[in-house]
Amino acid sequence: MTTGLFITFEGGDGAGKTTQSELLAKWLSKRGYEVVHTREPGGSSLGDSVRNVLLHGGHVMPRAEALLYAADRAQNIAEVVRPALERGAAVVQDRYIDSSLAYQGAGRPLPQDEIRHLNVWAAQGLWPAVTVLLDVDPSLAVERRAKDGQKADRLEREAAEFHKRVRSEYLELARAEPERFLVLDAALPIEELHAAIVERVAPLVSN
Ligand code: TYD
Repeated sequence: MTTGLFITFEGGDGAGKTTQSELLAKWLSKRGYEVVHTREPGGSSLGDSVRNVLLHGGHVMPRAEALLYAADRAQNIAEVVRPALERGAAVVQDRYIDSSLAYQGAGRPLPQDEIRHLNVWAAQGLWPAVTVLLDVDPSLAVERRAKDGQKADRLEREAAEFHKRVRSEYLELARAEPERFLVLDAALPIEELHAAIVERVAPLVSN
């Protein structure tokens, strides 16, 4: 049984997930929640090494990649997320199963139903109450990264077609589960996005 609040952020690279998840974490903590802010890959003790292999290592075969993301997820959910939810905390997480469905299940692409099955197994069926999808045009994300002087990681270096497939899969996932997803245009101003997210989350907050 989990009693806390689990909220995830999704979107292409450079969509501004971290900015928005940090703002929401602050908002929830002002409302009296213990907030655990985590991310995949990398939220757990095992996660940092997996993250390093995935983002900064050499070539990783698609199936190995899918398994590594799922392994990182299994560890993060069991070690960090479930215990927090059991304490009644709010868990705000950058990326979750939808990332694997979009990147491995559509970007690569590997069979979508197998990726779903693998990840539901890894996370023992845990789904968030709300998933905020920050929808971004992949070419805008490339521009943002160049402007910030950031170097692209292994996934970010994928071809434009890969990122287009990721984006349309995200939108497809959101269409299939409108009650879980909140889709927002990532190009909107930071404050406007935050207000829309708060509006969606507020009814779920207990005090
Ligand atoms: P990260 O630096 O966290 O990206 P961002 O700041 O854009 O969230 O890197 C995560 C990368 O890993 C990102 O390119 C998406 C990819 N990824 C997958 O391919 N599958 C997954 O299941 C997850 C969680 C991430």
